[in-house]
Amino acid sequence: MNTPTDRPKSSKGLKTLAGLMPFLMPYRTRILLAIIALVVAASTTLTLPYGFRNLIDLGFTTAGSAQAENVNIYFIALFLLACLLALATAARFYMVSWLGERVTSDIRNAVYAHVLRQSPAFFEITQTGEVLSRLTTDTTLIQTVVGTSISMALRNILLLMGGVLLMFITSPKLSAIIIVMLVLVILPVMVFGRRVRKLSRASQDRIADASGIAGEMLNAIGVVQAYAQETREARRFDGAVETAFRTAIARIHARSLLTAIAILLIFGAIVFVLWLGAHAVIEGSMSAGELGQFILYAVIVAGAIAALSEVIGDAQRAAGASERLLELLAEESPIRSPEHPTAIPPRAANGAALSIDQLSFRYPSRPDTLALSDLSMAVNAGDTIAVVGPSGAGKTTLFQLLLRFYDPERGSIRLDGVDIREFSLQDLRNMIGIVPQDTVVFSANAMENIRYGRPEASDAEVIAAAKLAAAHEFIERLPEGYQSFLGERGVRLSGGQRQRIAIARALLKNPPLLLLDEATSALDAESERLVQHALDAAMQGRTTLVIAHRLATVQRATRIIVMEHGKIVETGTHTELVDAGGLYASLAALQFNAS
Ligand SMILES: Nc1ncnc2c1ncn2[C@@H]1O[C@H](COP(=O)(O)OP(=O)(O)O)[C@@H](O)[C@H]1O
Ligand SMILES: [Mg+2]
Repeated sequence: MNTPTDRPKSSKGLKTLAGLMPFLMPYRTRILLAIIALVVAASTTLTLPYGFRNLIDLGFTTAGSAQAENVNIYFIALFLLACLLALATAARFYMVSWLGERVTSDIRNAVYAHVLRQSPAFFEITQTGEVLSRLTTDTTLIQTVVGTSISMALRNILLLMGGVLLMFITSPKLSAIIIVMLVLVILPVMVFGRRVRKLSRASQDRIADASGIAGEMLNAIGVVQAYAQETREARRFDGAVETAFRTAIARIHARSLLTAIAILLIFGAIVFVLWLGAHAVIEGSMSAGELGQFILYAVIVAGAIAALSEVIGDAQRAAGASERLLELLAEESPIRSPEHPTAIPPRAANGAALSIDQLSFRYPSRPDTLALSDLSMAVNAGDTIAVVGPSGAGKTTLFQLLLRFYDPERGSIRLDGVDIREFSLQDLRNMIGIVPQDTVVFSANAMENIRYGRPEASDAEVIAAAKLAAAHEFIERLPEGYQSFLGERGVRLSGGQRQRIAIARALLKNPPLLLLDEATSALDAESERLVQHALDAAMQGRTTLVIAHRLATVQRATRIIVMEHGKIVETGTHTELVDAGGLYASLAALQFNAS
């Protein structure tokens, strides 16, 4: 009954379950049907003891042939009640479980779609592991509540109230005694049950610790084996697993004790009252059937109380889980499309014009340093601009702002004369192609990996883009050509091959503005030549900003922008800048000598 990671909340916590209402409302009709089925089942359960009493009292006491007939009628009635109970219970179970699954799926989709739209600032403070755990574990807790707990709670509240009422009607005196006894018995059981729940949470947390260790080490398996640390890592995992085991055993201890105490006390109470009742029957103040009926009600009431105490625990855990999910859903990305976005201006043949005006920016996580400060530049359509500078100068940051992953603190970026904040995010990002420094290859075949740049592109268009990016040849040589599966559990590509896939992906998009974050470190001389060739082709007919590390790229650029500490410190052509003898000259002397 206990599912992982959660912080049980008090009554305030239970209120957060109301936040789930919007997810339940679309299924009103089903909820209503489920409630009807539930009420029918509960009423039937409550009628059974009455039928039982009649069975005993009337069935066994009337004399002669009428007796047999009575018995028949009551057995048939009992059986029909059982049929009704079976039907109603099955219907309730089906509809409530359906709701649980449906609502959980809806919440999962809503949270995932929402998280996908968050800005990078969100992912800087949120671990992906946490989001994943919310999507899986937290939603499963909600499924428990919607799919079982709520209906269990309703059913048992009905049974409790109905059972108590009918008990009192059957025998007020015995009822008063048994209620007092049940309260005396159930209270310690509930307190003890709370302790068991705490222990079981601890046990789940220890298991999570162990999985955490395993997850981290499996991701770094290459390092673990290179340092021959398998034995030590296995022992570390073993330690975590043993701790989890000991915690689980502590819970099992408590739980067995709880079971013994609960059964002993509850049966003790019932046997005691049964004994009182037996005397009442002997004295003639109560019929045998009434006693039977009474005992059945007492069992129903005791069961309902026990079930309710379980359900409250579940509900509290789910309240904690849904609170975290709803928080996540309420998270607003600071980067949003404007309400009335400007349409993309008609596209010029040679790309988009770019102008950056007094741009200043700080990363939210480092509010005291300017990552870009007072940056201005104008780029004509079709130009190729090389951006150079030492590591940490702010080159990648500039690209992030162009893509509007963050908004600037001051200043503006204009594409074809329009402030990029006036475009819808989708339009803006459709205008920009990016080849990032760390290229990502998805777990899909080569064809699909390139097609990610424009999902509606035909196979022929994908292949054309691959040819332009100098990727066609090596893809053809893969075991299954364009159908070869790449990424994890597939073909591993070299750094240069991955980069050419990324270039093909960006080219397929055919964007008016291309951003290239050059990575030379991963490339040998041959791949570098191929990538260079691909980049040259890529820059045709569009505006390109390239973070350059190669002399070849820099020399081909219309203009070179030299950045340092978030500022533009020099601009000009290669020869101009070398002659000026500034930062660029020293960078060039260090970097380009070899090539
Ligand atoms: N997400 C981030 N949060 C905080 N600081 C960052 C972040 N990304 C980069 N920085 C910092 O901003 C500065 C510029 O980084 P970056 O643009 O990546 O440099 P470059 O690409 O020129 O090497 C560096 O000091 C870096 O530490
Ligand atoms: Mg960088």
